[in-house]
Amino acid sequence: MAFFVIILSYLIGSISFSFLMGRLLRKLDIREHGSGNAGATNTLRVLGVGPAIIVLLLDCAKGIVAVVIGLQVSNGDPVIAGACGLAAVLGHNWPIFHGFRGGKGVATTIGVLATLVFWPALIAGTIAIISIIITRFVSLGSLLFMVGTTILTASTFYLFDYSFTTVYFLVILTLLSIWRHRENIKRLRQGTESKVGQKA
Ligand code: G3P
Repeated sequence: MAFFVIILSYLIGSISFSFLMGRLLRKLDIREHGSGNAGATNTLRVLGVGPAIIVLLLDCAKGIVAVVIGLQVSNGDPVIAGACGLAAVLGHNWPIFHGFRGGKGVATTIGVLATLVFWPALIAGTIAIISIIITRFVSLGSLLFMVGTTILTASTFYLFDYSFTTVYFLVILTLLSIWRHRENIKRLRQGTESKVGQKA
């Protein structure tokens, strides 16, 4: 059963809503435009605010659905829940339905973390949003969210009664996100990263 729900989570994650939105609205492949990333930020760049919000919510929902399914079938086992969340993010990043070329997993990870560790995710998410408003770098905000949620969870898991196993999954998700953002990090260091509202 565990194996089945993890595979199901990967398949759910593999539905690329930014790709589908690009095809639906402008008959384009989002991965050939803007930053080339199949995600909400690039949807904002290429298709505008409305489509980006829809993509953000749907990509986020993939993470929520995967973790909820994992929790339901395992009676709250943090290993299965974490594995389902990770599988959904892997699906988003390397989608089987779209030639294994997907996004960076941020929106799906938001859904996963908000379901697994709501309060740390909310606090880190608030810090990330403030950072995006100030700097206009979504990538920086995304990384702050990942690292912040992981640090906050690791230092408060006993207060919220989270399983420490969840922290291991958060570390994996954060390392995965840093690796997927390696080009963004390079551009941030060089001062060439594109800002919200700017053409890529
Ligand atoms: O959601 C991914 C975001 O952090 C960066 O996206 O398109 O600017 O590489 P992008």
